[in-house]
Amino acid sequence: MTKINLSTLQAMKQRGEKIAMTTVYDACFAQVQTQAGVEVLLVGDSLGMVLQGNDSTVPVTIEQMVYHTRCVKQGAGNALILADMPFMGAATVEMCLSHCQQLMQAGAHIIKLEGDAWLAETIQQLARNGVPVCAHLGLTPQSVNVFGGYKVQGRSDVQAQTLLAAAQQLEEAGAAMLLVECIPAELTQKLTKRSKIPVIGIGAGPHCDGQVLVMHDLLGITPGKPARFVKNFMQGEESIASAFENYVKAVKEGSFPAAEHGFE
Ligand code: KIV
Repeated sequence: MTKINLSTLQAMKQRGEKIAMTTVYDACFAQVQTQAGVEVLLVGDSLGMVLQGNDSTVPVTIEQMVYHTRCVKQGAGNALILADMPFMGAATVEMCLSHCQQLMQAGAHIIKLEGDAWLAETIQQLARNGVPVCAHLGLTPQSVNVFGGYKVQGRSDVQAQTLLAAAQQLEEAGAAMLLVECIPAELTQKLTKRSKIPVIGIGAGPHCDGQVLVMHDLLGITPGKPARFVKNFMQGEESIASAFENYVKAVKEGSFPAAEHGFE
């Protein structure tokens, strides 16, 4: 795989070639996933749940995100590293700039911020300082206490219009990528058509420029009942490496996600 950067992803969107993204938290899995053809490695704050055993991502700290980003960097090869800003990490622009500096100096190429249209000013400041941003919209897990659970977003017309307007505002502010979680497939389709930047989905249907899955879900080792949008790619496979290869293939050929993984 040649070195992946934002221009590579932009060109993939234009060609209609799907982008494969997975979460990862250490060097060993970073290497396996990159060799399987994953273009973007997300050092997700989901580590608070899948590694630390918490019931949300809220307890994750900037020090922990920096540590795991540094670990992933060691095995990432030519993949692009996207690192999560933890809960309240972008509460002020100054705080956000300092956290981005730490994450990028640890190896991140782009930073993911959960939020809404209010992030526009922060994204402008980050863009001026050489920090590319992926804006995470829809079900933003850090706001689980506001949503009252992990619920599908953007179902009403008002919610859908608000999300589309926020995405446009954030793109105009300089966002380099959008990630949408648990929104109806039809809304993702509209958003992907309108956006000039790559749109990555999770529980957002097949009509985006790429897909992301939490690696523990992909390998079928998350305890409890899997979410509707999850597929266990380890089933029928002999090795972890082939499970990741199978995921990449399914994303590229458009067989994942299928209709049953999405929301109407
Ligand atoms: O932290 C994470 O793993 C994420 C994904 C759910 C997209 O943000």
